[in-house]
Order: sequence, then structure tokens, then C-alpha cells
Amino acid sequence: MGGVSANLDGPAAYPASARHLDFAGAVRRGLRGAMVCHCRISLRRLPVNGSREALFSFAQAVVDRSRPNPLVVCPNPFYQIYEGAALLAGATPVYINTLAANDFELDLASIADSTWADTQLIYVCSPGNPTGKVMSLSTWQKLFELSDRFGFVIASDECYSEIYFEEDQPPLGALSAAAQLGRHDYKNLLMFSSLSKRSNVPGMRSGFVAGDAALLEKFLLYRTYHGSAMNPVVQAASIVAWNDEAHVIENRRLYAEKFAAVTPLVSSHLPCKLPDAGFYLWARTPMADTDFARDLYHQQNVVVLPGSYLAREHDGINPGAGFVRIALVPSLEDCLDAARRIQTFCSSL
Ligand SMILES: Cc1ncc(COP(=O)(O)O)c(C=O)c1O
Repeated sequence: MGGVSANLDGPAAYPASARHLDFAGAVRRGLRGAMVCHCRISLRRLPVNGSREALFSFAQAVVDRSRPNPLVVCPNPFYQIYEGAALLAGATPVYINTLAANDFELDLASIADSTWADTQLIYVCSPGNPTGKVMSLSTWQKLFELSDRFGFVIASDECYSEIYFEEDQPPLGALSAAAQLGRHDYKNLLMFSSLSKRSNVPGMRSGFVAGDAALLEKFLLYRTYHGSAMNPVVQAASIVAWNDEAHVIENRRLYAEKFAAVTPLVSSHLPCKLPDAGFYLWARTPMADTDFARDLYHQQNVVVLPGSYLAREHDGINPGAGFVRIALVPSLEDCLDAARRIQTFCSSL
């Protein structure tokens, strides 16, 4: 951490919103897949204080509320920031239900052309929270075609992109998908990355965004008003974290170990499967998810998140209802203990 202490005088000056940051390592890892070298180097990126503030503030920079009926599309269930960002930017959120029956695919065809015509921004999340679903190249292709046709911007939330199972099979990211499809200008596309899950440092508040240079320019201008330049001490620590891969590989190994131990125990009582990536089990409950979560907590002191809290009712259903999200963040020992308590609780029903 010498890089950090050497930068302790940084706070003596105001940091620039787009201060030079050696994010080469970050971008290299963010662009796994079929990227060619010159793309990695020429790609524009911007440091942000975690992906959450960036996902939120990006809507402020992109949504034009002077246009009639501004819409922001997002998956359902979803990370709650997308909806708040849409509403506070003066847009109306539009939901795409991701359903178990459809293997949690993002069903882009479920949105009418007239809705796409008013859409200014779509949030997608891959690997997904809460389902762990990774978007395929063909889904990306369809989304890029829609973006070209209707002119909307794509915000790709990839904060779980470093938590996956096979070292040689990282999840496909938006920028890699774009490059594979020959879209080297990343038109209307921005990806949001974070150290929070990759390095287990959510308290540090560090991430970056990368993609379409024109969009980044617009976002940067917005951010100079927003006052969200990254603390130079955090910048220095971030460079250390992005440039070290060993701890990330070990982190993945620990998650894989937890999934291997816990999934059979949980799935013997609550239907669930290994996610494509990420660190959640998305498990079906034998009763209302809210009652399940409440009673499990009361009786076994285990905390899970009711799926209905992560979704909105749309098309007559709440697609999170009947599921709970189980985060395998604690130690293996604690995850195993929680899984056994879930078994005991389910057996008592
Ligand atoms: C889907 C998703 N996106 C973004 C974030 C925000 O992460 P951070 O702001 O720590 O980068 C989270 C945090 O849990 C998340 O689940």
C-alpha cells in the first residue's frame, strides 16, 4: 500500500473530476473476451465513487425531460437505484419482467415499439442481481439493434462481473459484446464497474465507467457540477486493487467453495440452482416470500431478502414474489450454518 501513503498529500488540492487515473489494469480486466489491444488502450473511462452514485447520476445527465413522455427501462426484479434514478430524472420507469419460466432472460420483445420510441435510457444488469443471469451475445445484439433504431442509451451495470465460477470463462460484458459485434465506437453504451464486489471493499466507494466517448464527455460535464471527483487517496488505493489479480482469484475460489457447499443444502428444501455468476442464490419459497423471510429470521436468526421487495408489480405479477435472495457473502462456516438453519426451518413447515 506504499502507493496510498505516497499519495496522502493528495487531499491538499481539489481533485479533478476526470483526474488521470491509471486504470489500464481495470479496463483490461473489464474488457475480457474478444477485445483487441488497441480498443483497450483507446477506450475512454471515468473514475466514479462506486457504481451506485454513477448509475444514479448518469440518468440526470442523459434524460431530456423536455422531450414528451421520457421513459427509462429496467429489468424487474432490479437494483433499486435504477428506478429512483429514473424518477428523480423526471422519467417514468418501464419494467421488463425476468421470469424463471424464461430462464430469467431479458425479454426485449415484451416492450412495444411505441414504448421504445419514448425510451431514453435502459439499465441492464449482467451478471444480474438477484438472479445471477448473464446476458448472451444474441441478447446484446438485439439490444444494440433497438438502441440504433430508437436512439436510446444503454447503461450496463457490471458490478458482479468478477464473481464467476470458471477462471477461463468470465461473463460476457457489454463492451466485449459490442467489440465482438464490430461496434468499436461503443455508440450509446456505457458500462459501470466497481471494486466493491471484486475486492470486497464496498466501503471504499470506487469504480469506473467506460464506453462511448461522447456520452462520457456529457457525463463528465454533469459531474463537475455534481461535485463527485474521486478522493486522491482512494484513487491511489484503487490503482493498487485494480492492478492486483491474486486477491480476486482467491475471492472467486472462496465463493465457488461456498456455492459448492451451500447450494445442495438449500436446494434440497428450496428450489434453486447455481447462478451464471455473482454471489446470490435466488431460491423459491414454499410460502409468501415476506412471511418466509420474517419467520426464518424469528426462528433461526437467518436474514434473507424477500424477492418481492426487489421487484414491482408489472403485467399483473410481481416477478420477485415467491423467491428469496440469499447472499453468500459471510464465511464458509457462517454460510453453512445459515444453510442448515434454513433446512431446519423448512422441515418445520
Ligand atoms: C446490481 C448492483 N449494482 C450496483 C451496486 C452498487 O455497488 P457499488 O456502488 O458499491 O459499486 C450494487 C450493490 O450491491 C448492486 O447490487
